[in-house]
Amino acid sequence: MIIDVTARDRARVRDYYDRFADGEHDRLSVDIAGRVSVEVHRRFLARFVTHGQRVLEIGAGPGRFTTELADHGCSVVVTDISPVQLELNRAHLAGTRSESAVQRRELLDVCDTSRYADGEFDVVLAFGGPLSYAFEDTEAALRGLLRITRPGGTVVASVMSMLGTWRHQLPGVVQLAAAVGEDVNDAVLRTGDLRHVPGADHVCQMFRARDIDRLAVAAGGRLLAMSASNWASLGNDDVLGPVEADPDRWSRFLRHEVDACSEPGAADGGTHILFALTHER
Ligand SMILES: C[S@@+](CC[C@H](N)C(=O)[O-])C[C@H]1O[C@@H](n2cnc3c(N)ncnc32)[C@H](O)[C@@H]1O
Repeated sequence: MIIDVTARDRARVRDYYDRFADGEHDRLSVDIAGRVSVEVHRRFLARFVTHGQRVLEIGAGPGRFTTELADHGCSVVVTDISPVQLELNRAHLAGTRSESAVQRRELLDVCDTSRYADGEFDVVLAFGGPLSYAFEDTEAALRGLLRITRPGGTVVASVMSMLGTWRHQLPGVVQLAAAVGEDVNDAVLRTGDLRHVPGADHVCQMFRARDIDRLAVAAGGRLLAMSASNWASLGNDDVLGPVEADPDRWSRFLRHEVDACSEPGAADGGTHILFALTHER
């Protein structure tokens, strides 16, 4: 019964991304926090991919990180649960050098990777939250991602952060609690599950860093690294505008920001939590 419910929830998410369409492409480019988030994700990914690797990209969306994987010389199986996002991925990469890195594109729910062989990929990448849409099946999904990753290979992912999102979105959270009731707000803060909000357009599961620690072990993995996205750059676009405009100051800021994000004490502080895991020895 739970499986039916969560499958329906994932269908709801697929419909949301079908409707969201190219909004997803623009989401991280419109403000400084978004651009920093892309940079934090790019640099995190670069630690775990090397030339010639075969990568499964899950929830690829319009291809922000497909292009990145192509730049690293990887060959990529591009997947998404949303047919619209998969088509946008094709459209955005068409005519670019990155397209030659794409082996094929296919529809895939992160919760069902049974079509792939054990250890088929060097790296499995799920940036931007596919695992935030697995709900009750998250642990099984993560175990599935490890199964199809070769021994010594890496699963690299990011999920929505409960505490960082609460802090960053506080005005909206307070407003929502007033509208739907403090009991609903309590339930969301306790569980990270936005399905508690009646009539929510976008539902997802948000995590605490300690949830990721627990999930990694439960799925048979070992955490290699964790990072927040972002740390100092949330809600400070006015201050950071002049810094971004100066290449030297900006590169220094990004270095400090990426370093801060990877401090253990920062893991819960951003809107997303990035992590990399491998098989337990
Ligand atoms: C926020 S976008 C991230 C896109 C891209 N990975 C990035 O980081 O820029 C989330 C993507 O995950 C996809 N997605 C959502 N639920 C999924 C699921 N259960 N399985 C696979 N993909 C899913 C959505 O369709 C969407 O394209």
